[in-house]
Amino acid sequence: MVGRWCLVAGAFLAGSAARCEEDLWLSEVMEEVSRPVVDFTELPKVTLRLDEKVSNLSRALYILPWRRSRTSEAAPASTASALVELWRQLPPLAVLAVRGTEHFELLKRLLFATQERSHSQVDLDVQEFACTACGCLALRGATGVKTGGRGRLWRWQRRVAGRMKQLGEACKTDKVWRHSYHLIYDRVLPETLEPGSCFLEIGYGCGMSYDVGASARLWAELYPQTQVHMVDHNKACVQNMGQDFLNRQNYTVHIADQSSIKDLERLKDDLYDGCSGQLSVIIDDGSHQSQDIITSFLSLYPMLGSKGLYFIEDLGSSAYRSMYRDSALAGQEAPGNSLYFMASLLRHLLRKGSTPERTAYPQLRALQCRRNICVVKNW
Ligand SMILES: *[C@@H]1O[C@H](CO)[C@@H](O)[C@H](O)[C@H]1NC(C)=O
Ligand SMILES: *[C@@H]1O[C@H](CO)[C@@H](O)[C@H](O)[C@H]1NC(C)=O
Repeated sequence: MVGRWCLVAGAFLAGSAARCEEDLWLSEVMEEVSRPVVDFTELPKVTLRLDEKVSNLSRALYILPWRRSRTSEAAPASTASALVELWRQLPPLAVLAVRGTEHFELLKRLLFATQERSHSQVDLDVQEFACTACGCLALRGATGVKTGGRGRLWRWQRRVAGRMKQLGEACKTDKVWRHSYHLIYDRVLPETLEPGSCFLEIGYGCGMSYDVGASARLWAELYPQTQVHMVDHNKACVQNMGQDFLNRQNYTVHIADQSSIKDLERLKDDLYDGCSGQLSVIIDDGSHQSQDIITSFLSLYPMLGSKGLYFIEDLGSSAYRSMYRDSALAGQEAPGNSLYFMASLLRHLLRKGSTPERTAYPQLRALQCRRNICVVKNW
């Protein structure tokens, strides 16, 4: 796995624009969705034509053809609406592949729709969404389907549940029992991390009515060779745990407010030497306020090392639930909203496919989202 990554990374940096024009782009984005609910390679491939009505909508991998035009990048809004309507008609567990930035409006809608379950009724039902610099893959959910798709989903959920699910239940973290986030963590987190590498989570669980530190125990057990650092802004709560107790744990708790640039700068200073200047995994399970998510990402992402992973939990809640500041109604995502921010990140990622030499995020490899969570992946 590592070898292949390095190989692809090398080739990619050498000429990503050229790569995106080959058929390789599709297998590359497929690989980002490890252990998918349907085996993409076994699905029949169907090329969609915008000027033709699709009559036979069976479960397949639908591919939007790519017009290679560097000058006029975006398809008109009417095309985006038509494509959204087409998406609605796809059968459960069908897959849509979109290359390049031409259909960015559609991709944005699909990205947003991965988070829709967390705030409203299922509308577009995008179960999973993954993008590399060359394009994106969206997997249709199975809402409203009584047979076939549903059973398949349940069997898949059992199949991909791994150590995070087991340990998470033992540690009583709501990541597993409430949110089923193991459905992404168990597929994306590597089996081992480099000994001595650093794992950082914002949100020790202070102020929650249930188990403070549950996920800290989980990470420390999952990665015994790794330094687990937890961050919480609630000083009184952390001090209440007692220094003796904290000293006995296999993790470290830092007191910092993720909304404060000052605190984040201090945190990075504190971590710098022990972590050789970089973090392997960052998880934002903090306040879930959009502004805090954005502030923390902008401050901490530069410290994410190679092959690093940055997870943002409860993303859909932060973006759409009215209890959070800067939340919006679907379709009205605006600057300051966490999903608006993710869409801008996606645009930077896709831009690398056409102009890799002029990119704002050279280390950014992929973005993957499921219900209420997204992960940003580095090369
Ligand atoms: C519909 O498409 C599927 C896969 O693309 C194909 O296997 C099937 O034969 C098609 N059915 C008809 C009636 O065209
Ligand atoms: C810390 O890790 C060691 C070695 O894995 C283990 O024996 C010990 O029980 C752990 N401590 C706590 C408090 O979990």
